[in-house]
Amino acid sequence: MAAKEHHHSKKTTYSLSSFCCLFLSILCFASLFLAFSLFKTSLSPPRPDQHRNFESERSETAEIKNGVSNSPCDYSDGKWIYDPTVRSPRYDKACKEIYRGWNCIGSNKSNGIDIVKWRWKPNHCDLPQFDPLRFLEDYRDTNIGFVGDSLNRNMFVALFCTLKRVSSEVRKWRPAGADRGFTFLQYNLTIAYHRTNLLARYGRWSANANGGVLESLRYKEGYRVDVDIPEGTWAEAPSFHDILIFNTGHWWWAPSKFDPVKSPMLFFEKGQPVVPTIPPDAGLDMVLKHMISFVEGRTQPNTIAFFRTQSPRHFEGGDWDQGGSCPHLQPLLPQEVEELFSLKNNGTNVEARLVNQHLFKALKGSSRFHMLDITHMSEFRADAHPSTAGGKKHDDCMHWCLPGTTDTWNDLFIAHLNNFKVPN
Ligand SMILES: *[C@@H]1O[C@H](CO)[C@@H](O)[C@H](O)[C@H]1NC(C)=O
Ligand SMILES: *[C@@H]1O[C@H](CO)[C@@H](O)[C@H](O)[C@H]1NC(C)=O
Ligand SMILES: *[C@@H]1O[C@H](CO)[C@@H](O)[C@H](O)[C@H]1NC(C)=O
Repeated sequence: MAAKEHHHSKKTTYSLSSFCCLFLSILCFASLFLAFSLFKTSLSPPRPDQHRNFESERSETAEIKNGVSNSPCDYSDGKWIYDPTVRSPRYDKACKEIYRGWNCIGSNKSNGIDIVKWRWKPNHCDLPQFDPLRFLEDYRDTNIGFVGDSLNRNMFVALFCTLKRVSSEVRKWRPAGADRGFTFLQYNLTIAYHRTNLLARYGRWSANANGGVLESLRYKEGYRVDVDIPEGTWAEAPSFHDILIFNTGHWWWAPSKFDPVKSPMLFFEKGQPVVPTIPPDAGLDMVLKHMISFVEGRTQPNTIAFFRTQSPRHFEGGDWDQGGSCPHLQPLLPQEVEELFSLKNNGTNVEARLVNQHLFKALKGSSRFHMLDITHMSEFRADAHPSTAGGKKHDDCMHWCLPGTTDTWNDLFIAHLNNFKVPN
């Protein structure tokens, strides 16, 4: 199994200076390859009206050649660069897995194509677009599971469509309780999406006529969340997959679903209600603690597990159900990002950084999990949501257009994976 060759201690990996040299030269080669292929596909003249933050592609690739640093790169520190030479997206609107509401090119969103012309450039290294064929070859006989909410599905679909374009022979099936999954038959590489909103099992709860501790606190209706029981959709995933990508977050800050008064989250541990009752953010901490140790106890020593940080929403002028919208056609400027997301402004989308505080706290000290930090890079991308193109009653400023931002998440995911690999 390919995963057997993977390495887990970041520290050890990075201290191998010879590996770093090798890694840098691979990056260097990859960047040159990328620059070359962009050049080849450059057919149309640049559109000068679109060039906020534009910097030349050529000067960017030079930076890595100078061997910036051999410490691990902080991929979240960077900027989006408009690259008008990008002619075609990684996959087209015909990829069947793209949910209609996310298919911005298919729905004629005015900037649908422009979204993919922005490239994330970390300040101290490069993040090349991953090569799907190389990936399929490198990760032969590997199972990869995405476990989480619809934002993880968005990322899963982006990966599927990119791979499908270069290897079309797939078997569709539902491995280990997954909502959907595919095996790329020529490579025996399986990717699957396990749907779960809270990671923990939950369901409706109503007061029992015989009474109980929650009834005595006058609770009538709500949701029972078992903080120590994984939802059945993914309980088998840790022992099945070689690589896992988890997320949770959006549903914890969703008062329209878990109304704090009419249908609050009621937490249970070891089958008993947690009393005094606790608010959702405290429940999230309990769930994270239990789910992390569940995963740590079920995975093989060579399994690689990621926790993906929170995907930011970009509602302006109100929340999703208050007429909020995301009309931007270009990424935000750094000061606009701070305005929208800084904790001290406590704006509509403030949960992005709040969720991350909980994740970082819970994962501190976990030797098993690696962080896949996509939050800051995504905070700029107010332009990359379906918005009105989603075809729903409300603007969708939460999910991402495909192709789009989650393709860059996959570049980051694969860059991390390749960093862990021990050189042969
Ligand atoms: C998008 O535009 C094409 C070509 O003008 C048209 O055929 C198609 O119906 C449009 N799709 C949507 C969802 O509006
Ligand atoms: C495919 O990969 C799985 C591991 O992910 C392995 O158990 C299985 O034997 C492989 N199948 C073939 C035909 O090599
Ligand atoms: C943030 O704003 C919400 C409502 O928009 C409010 O309920 C909450 O108390 C505020 N939090 C802080 C820390 O100010």
